[in-house]
Amino acid sequence: MKLLVIGSGGREHALAWKLARSPRVSQVFVAPGNGGTAAEEGVQNLPVTEIATLVEFARREDIALTVVGPEAPLSAGVVNAFRKAGLRIFGPDKAAAQLESSKDFAKQFMVRHGIPTARYQTYTDAAAAHAYLDAQGAPIVIKADGLAAGKGVVVAQTLAEAHAAVDAMLAGNALGKAGARVVIEECLAGEEASFIVMVDGKHVLPLASSQDHKRLQDNDVGPNTGGMGAYSPAPVVTPELHARIMREIILPTIAGMAQDGLPYTGFLYAGVMLDGAGNPKVLEFNCRLGDPEAQPLLMRLKSDLLDLLEAALDGRLDQVEAQWDRRVALAVVLAAAGYPEHPRKGDEIGGLPAPQEDAHVFHAGTRREDGRLLTAGGRVLAVTALGDSVRMAQKRAYELAQGIHFSGMQYRRDIGWRALKRPV
Ligand code: AMP
Ligand code: GLY
Repeated sequence: MKLLVIGSGGREHALAWKLARSPRVSQVFVAPGNGGTAAEEGVQNLPVTEIATLVEFARREDIALTVVGPEAPLSAGVVNAFRKAGLRIFGPDKAAAQLESSKDFAKQFMVRHGIPTARYQTYTDAAAAHAYLDAQGAPIVIKADGLAAGKGVVVAQTLAEAHAAVDAMLAGNALGKAGARVVIEECLAGEEASFIVMVDGKHVLPLASSQDHKRLQDNDVGPNTGGMGAYSPAPVVTPELHARIMREIILPTIAGMAQDGLPYTGFLYAGVMLDGAGNPKVLEFNCRLGDPEAQPLLMRLKSDLLDLLEAALDGRLDQVEAQWDRRVALAVVLAAAGYPEHPRKGDEIGGLPAPQEDAHVFHAGTRREDGRLLTAGGRVLAVTALGDSVRMAQKRAYELAQGIHFSGMQYRRDIGWRALKRPV
């Protein structure tokens, strides 16, 4: 069976790597892929991003099933186009993907269906937004309504910062159309967790819990990034909390989408804030697997991912179970010089370890040129390792990371600290 994965990051490398291990899969194409997927056994890159060309390719090559990694093709309607052509694809259609592509849509949806989230107001008018900020005070959070590749959220500690963020988005047009409407919301305190599930329109299969590290530097300081590392499981998500998140957030979301005439199919990621009392509130929805959460999750997944995807596309996710490696998986992201603001590209990468049973280096921003491996994006590699404990997975990932080198390489030394800090 031939499969297609759409995207070019570490999440897509992990998806392709996992799918290529299925005994029923002969070939996985990744469009456009990266320097890691180019060299992965059973995986081949396809230098295409245009939706119509992807549809044509899937037809011609008799692709049995397509999985979409990132949000941009989802909100551009890739699922609609594939379905219209009678092709099987796992992901939400354009209308359902609004849960991620419009923060205002997501907030209205949550309010309508009683899903716990921070209080908010939406503005297009700068003067009204400024007045609301003054009435609320700081800290406060300003979010661009549209997709902004991780740059659309400002957690303002002072009113001055908050006013500046509103000016940049509404008046300064800093994020273009994505920022022409802003959501201003209450700042929530607590610990974040990533709760990711598979959905078939009606039924839900929860994946293992995970947690990522959004800030660039150790001790969670520095700018927000797409994620500098992640691990699974996340001990903060106790069985009781898992049950609450399913009952209060995930199930009402799936039922609400169906009720609103937008049945949801695909991976669904709820970024959840757990307050001091352990109450979960939704910070954001993503219509996809997290990156880098996908790397440790897929390393721990023992089930055949193809079986799960087929069950999802057939509407029988209630009849399958996912088996997980009982070990911990932990991923350390190696980022380029200048990430996240202005990542430098073109540095040569060396020191990659030989394939290991308990570890894999997933590529994100890499490309191959004349037999050399070069950096080609902000997050370059995610060194992912399994271990019997958080500490052992961490030790293994860092051992491998230390052997890898490229000019300007930066990474956090403390991935997993929250899990290590918890009493066991
Ligand atoms: P989002 O893209 O909405 O997840 O926001 C990115 C990051 O900003 C989140 O992972 C949080 O760390 C932070 N954040 C978002 N919304 C809030 C909020 N209401 N209160 C505190 N932090 C937030
Ligand atoms: N790691 C967070 C995300 O994928 O959005």
